[in-house]
Amino acid sequence: MYYKVVYYLFIAYILLGRSCTCKKIPAIIVFGDSSVDAGNNNYISTILKSNFEPYGCDFDGRKPTGRFSNGKLPTDFISQALGIKSLIPAYLDPKCNITDFATGVSFASAGTGYDNATSDLFSVIPLWKELEYYKEFQRDLRSYLGHEKANQVLSEAIYIISVGTNDFLEKYSVLSKWTSEYSVENYEQYLLSIAENFIAKLYKLGARKIAVAGLPPMGCLPLERTKNFMFGSGCVEEQNNLVKDFNEKLKASVAMLKHNLVGIKLVLSDTYDILWNIIHNPDSFGFADVRKACCGTGLFEIGYMCDKLNIFTCWDPNNHVFWDALHTTEKTNRIVADDLIKNYLSEFL
Ligand SMILES: *[C@@H]1O[C@H](CO)[C@@H](O)[C@H](O)[C@H]1NC(C)=O
Ligand SMILES: *[C@@H]1O[C@H](CO)[C@@H](O)[C@H](O)[C@H]1NC(C)=O
Repeated sequence: MYYKVVYYLFIAYILLGRSCTCKKIPAIIVFGDSSVDAGNNNYISTILKSNFEPYGCDFDGRKPTGRFSNGKLPTDFISQALGIKSLIPAYLDPKCNITDFATGVSFASAGTGYDNATSDLFSVIPLWKELEYYKEFQRDLRSYLGHEKANQVLSEAIYIISVGTNDFLEKYSVLSKWTSEYSVENYEQYLLSIAENFIAKLYKLGARKIAVAGLPPMGCLPLERTKNFMFGSGCVEEQNNLVKDFNEKLKASVAMLKHNLVGIKLVLSDTYDILWNIIHNPDSFGFADVRKACCGTGLFEIGYMCDKLNIFTCWDPNNHVFWDALHTTEKTNRIVADDLIKNYLSEFL
C-alpha cells in the first residue's frame, strides 16, 4: 500500500515535471562573431581560426573546436543552464544536421561585424549571410518538424546576437585616430542602423525573444592594453568611453524597436558591467591575472600565433580572465553566462 502511494506520487511528480518542461525554451539560435562562433570558421577559407591546440585544452577530451577559448562559450553555458544541451553546434559543421540544429545552432563567424567591410577584411561570414543561413535552417526545420511545430519552435526560441567589437577594433587599427568627432558619430549611426535592420528582419521571420549584446570594455582587452604600454598598459579609456556611448545608443534602438514591433521581447544584454567588475576586482572572482592572457606571452597572440609550440603559454587558464589577446577564458565565460541569465534572459523564461 505504502509502496503504491509512493509510486503514484512519483508518477505525479514526473507528470508535473513534464508540464513545466512544456514551457521550456525549445532552442537557442545564435548570430555574431568569435564571442559566439562554435566553429563555423573551420569550414571557410580564412586565417581567423582556432581549431588547433592549445585552444580547447579544457574542453571535454581536450578538443579544439574552433571556439576562441580554452573551453566553452557563454552561449554553451546558457544552453546548458536552460536544460537544452551542453553545446551549441556550428551550422557549417558537416557532422551535424537538422536533428542537432533543431534545439540550437550558431551561425556566428569569428572576425565578422555589423559592417560588411569588417567581414571582408578577413574573408569571414558577413552578418547578412548569417541571416541567409538562418533562412535555410528555417526551411530545413519546417520539413523536419512540420510547419506548425517548426513555427512554434522559431517563435519560442531565444535568439542571441553578439557582434560589433570587430567593427571598432578594425576601425581603430586602420585609422589609429578618428579623423573627427563627426566620423565617430557617423560610424556609430551606420552600425546602429544595420543592427536595427537585422533585428527587424529576424522579427519578420518569426523571432520574438531576442537578446542583442552590448559591447564589452574593449579598451581592457590585452591586445589594446599592450598597445597602451607607453602609458603603463592600463585600460584604454578612450575606447571604453566609445563603447559605453555605443551601448547607450544601442539601448535607445532597442527601446524604439520594442515600441514598433508588436509582441517582441527584446533586451540589450550588457556584458560591459560584469566584465568591468571582473577586470577591476579579479580576486573576488578567483582570478590572479587580468592583464595578460594565457596563450603565448599573453600580450598580443590570437589565432595561429597561439600555437601549441609557444612555450610561454600559461599552465593555469583558470587564473586568467583572458585566454588570448582578445578572448576570455572558459571560467570568465561561465561567470558572464550566469550574469546574462540572471539579469537579462530571465525575461524570456
Ligand atoms: C542526422 O544524422 C543522424 C546521425 O548521423 C541520422 O541518424 C539522422 O537520420 C539524420 N537526420 C536527418 C533528418 O537527416
Ligand atoms: C552588405 O552586403 C550585402 C550583399 O552584397 C548587401 O545586400 C547589403 O546591403 C550590404 N549591407 C550594407 C549595410 O551595405
